[in-house]
Amino acid sequence: MPPVGAPAGLDEPGAAGAPPWPDAAAILDANWTGRHTVPSRTLYPHQWSWDAGFIAIGLAHAAPDRAWLDLRSLFAAQWPDGRVPHIVFDPGVTERDYFPGPSLWTGGDRPVPNGVPAVPGSGIVQPPVHALGAWAVYRRAPGTAAAEQLRWLYPRLVAQQEYLGTARDVGGAGLSSIVHPWESGLDNSPSWDEALGAVPVVADLLRRYARRDNRVVASNHRPTDEDYSRYLSIALSYRDGGYRDADLRTRHSFLVECPGFNTLRGAAELALARIAGVVGADPAPHRARAAAITRLLVDRLFDPGTGMFHSLDVRTGRRSPARCVNGLLPLVLPDLPAARVSDLVAEIVSARFGVDERMPVPSYDRSAADFDPYRYWRGPVWFNINWLLFRGLRGHGRDALAATLRTALLGLARRSGYYEYFHPDTGEGIGSPAFGWTAALALDLRADGGVRGVAPELPEQPARSSR
Ligand code: SER
Repeated sequence: MPPVGAPAGLDEPGAAGAPPWPDAAAILDANWTGRHTVPSRTLYPHQWSWDAGFIAIGLAHAAPDRAWLDLRSLFAAQWPDGRVPHIVFDPGVTERDYFPGPSLWTGGDRPVPNGVPAVPGSGIVQPPVHALGAWAVYRRAPGTAAAEQLRWLYPRLVAQQEYLGTARDVGGAGLSSIVHPWESGLDNSPSWDEALGAVPVVADLLRRYARRDNRVVASNHRPTDEDYSRYLSIALSYRDGGYRDADLRTRHSFLVECPGFNTLRGAAELALARIAGVVGADPAPHRARAAAITRLLVDRLFDPGTGMFHSLDVRTGRRSPARCVNGLLPLVLPDLPAARVSDLVAEIVSARFGVDERMPVPSYDRSAADFDPYRYWRGPVWFNINWLLFRGLRGHGRDALAATLRTALLGLARRSGYYEYFHPDTGEGIGSPAFGWTAALALDLRADGGVRGVAPELPEQPARSSR
């Protein structure tokens, strides 16, 4: 394993005569506030939930002690019902520095329910990648103190999973529903277009609440005003219902089962099985839940016509027709049947998503009429999703394709820097520069020389698929 920040190894792109590696650990240092790591100093100045999980995976190499503090900062804001807010607000940052800030989530007639910690957070969640992060930190830097951290986190991670598996099982089959596109982490993915189309646009919302994101980065790189206005009205409606989940089916306008979100819930159970082994709990129920989630994904969200997974609108019972990158993520799950693995691999190498040594997988089908190489999750390449696909390919024994994807990711970071996302043709960095999870996951990829089993927690075993 090359030390963090060392020159590129021979297996890495452009080793001979290439520019020096931009220092990923320095970005994580610069984004550390003393209490937690921000995704970006400019665009996202608070702590974000799924960013914290991915950032922990990089901090496992660079500063494991800080990874534990980061995860504890996030879980200090966990609600009594188990939900972990998608943003934990830094009281030192003003409302002017990020919108929507704390006042949007706690304002209105009905403030957040009793028992919610004083640590201010939003009322919605994000994909549960924290058990993966915690396990990665423990594996890289084990010991008594790290085991103690796992003992503190384990019941909290379990409560998070229980919330997602019960209160959020709106469809009643065992998959979790998201109640807001922000919960998926893939805010403006075409995956939500149909479900979102049914949410009325409230005309004056964007006059009452001014966006800030499109003043920090170019507005054609961000969600449209129409989408943003719907995001606000869904958030306000959930807030004004007291963040109650019991009657979501009858009163909430956006309820979607996302293949990516549910895959990560399954992957979290596998990481919890590993963590259970350290803290003296029973790993078997975690493995059983992961297997059940995998089966449900195949039964409910796989479309044999497209050969990939699609989000399901629980209100209408219809699957989205869009081919989006969240529909490739079930590859991460080790129990995915071999035929479905082959389907997803075929999609990854198809002209729609085609990966080669120069370019990772884009966020949306390149052949779609509305593919947009600049606009957030409607075309650009994202590092975290590709890191997950890399791990999935490796876990299913697709080592050559995994190596190609790793080369493409590291080449992109080296050429363009640790941007939030990247133009899927030119590789130009888009969105925020100095982005936390891009730097963190590049650290992890650089440390992982491509040998199977180096980081086996996700998935556990190469599965039965054939090459
Ligand atoms: N991703 C959203 C934003 O752009 C909210 O989490 O701020």
